[in-house]
Amino acid sequence: MPDSTDLLPPSLRAVALQSRNTLALRAEAAVLRVFTAPEQVAALGRHAAQGARGWVLGGGSNLVLPASVAGEVWQMALRGITLEDETREHWLVRAAGGEPWHEFVAACVARGWGGLENLALIPGTVGAAPVQNIGAYGLELAERVHSVEAYEIPAKRWRRLAAAECGFGYRDSRFKRAAPGHWMITAVTFALPRRWQPRLDYPDLRRWPGWEEAPPKPETVFDAVCAIRRAKLPDPARLPNAGSFFKNPIVPAAQAAALRERHPGVPAWPQTDGGVKLAAAWLIEQAGWKGRRLGPVGMHERHALVLVNHGDAVGDDVLRLAGAVQADVRIRFGVTLEIEPVRIADALGDI
Ligand code: EPU
Repeated sequence: MPDSTDLLPPSLRAVALQSRNTLALRAEAAVLRVFTAPEQVAALGRHAAQGARGWVLGGGSNLVLPASVAGEVWQMALRGITLEDETREHWLVRAAGGEPWHEFVAACVARGWGGLENLALIPGTVGAAPVQNIGAYGLELAERVHSVEAYEIPAKRWRRLAAAECGFGYRDSRFKRAAPGHWMITAVTFALPRRWQPRLDYPDLRRWPGWEEAPPKPETVFDAVCAIRRAKLPDPARLPNAGSFFKNPIVPAAQAAALRERHPGVPAWPQTDGGVKLAAAWLIEQAGWKGRRLGPVGMHERHALVLVNHGDAVGDDVLRLAGAVQADVRIRFGVTLEIEPVRIADALGDI
């Protein structure tokens, strides 16, 4: 009988990952395997049980890689979009983990399935989207997830997790809290509302001039979100970045009130749990980091929350700048900024 690990995708050796991470960090993987079929994924449990160590790569848009990556890199590249079911309320649309996120959103809108258009133009893959529970322009992915199919590598088993089992939070999930080699998300099924309602609460979107001409439709919201993002966020293909580099910090109400007294301009949003979310971009800008560089990296000149790679940076350059920004924001405002992307280890013991 063939060993199930024979089904693994071939190992590519000494692979440069610069083109596989949107920060374009110089990084090398000793071994890369690209998963294009479910049988290959099922072979991964056995491979890990035999001692292989590694982590799962999607579109590489939310990662800080070290120059020399520890363990194997397992890239999720399954493709396919299907309408699984129609209920009275929803279209249930399933997309494989390797589908590029933005193309998937565009395909849904083109087929008349609205509900994801506020998340247009976010880089990365469908499989990576639940990991950090992507969110933008008044919508979080979690609100549209029906279920997530994933292979749990150490347990060697397939799982189908309902949205409520995914532990979603602001830029967080049970997948993000686990080791990056624990889950391989192979597909996500979305419940998209048949009675579509535009979601225009976010100020930039509410103010969009197009709504004066015609009532919003999924396509026009999609176009508006793309235009708003293009106006202020750098395109990773031109200026490498990983989107927001820090989470917006959530502080206790008393701390927020004290801060607002000293700094009346700080944008702040009360949360349902009593905390207050602050705009990290504002804190970083006020701390003098907007448009400022340290070595080959810097904080973007149009959006202070986006860390950009101007040259030939490695992960350590990024972490040095992140540390300097965090220190200045802490000194000035007493607020600790948390790095948003996943940091990949350079030592096997840390995987
Ligand atoms: N602001 C500044 N300086 C700047 C940029 C913004 O003071 O350089 C202020 C703005 O005036 C505004 C506030 O900060 O009052 C918030 O700015 P923005 O609307 O651009 O949103 P954000 O909180 O910085 C978040 C997400 C983005 C998402 C946008 C829109 C996080 C960490 N980031 O950014 O997500 O696109 O809202 O919904 O929550 C990402 O995660 O990669 C990402 C781009």
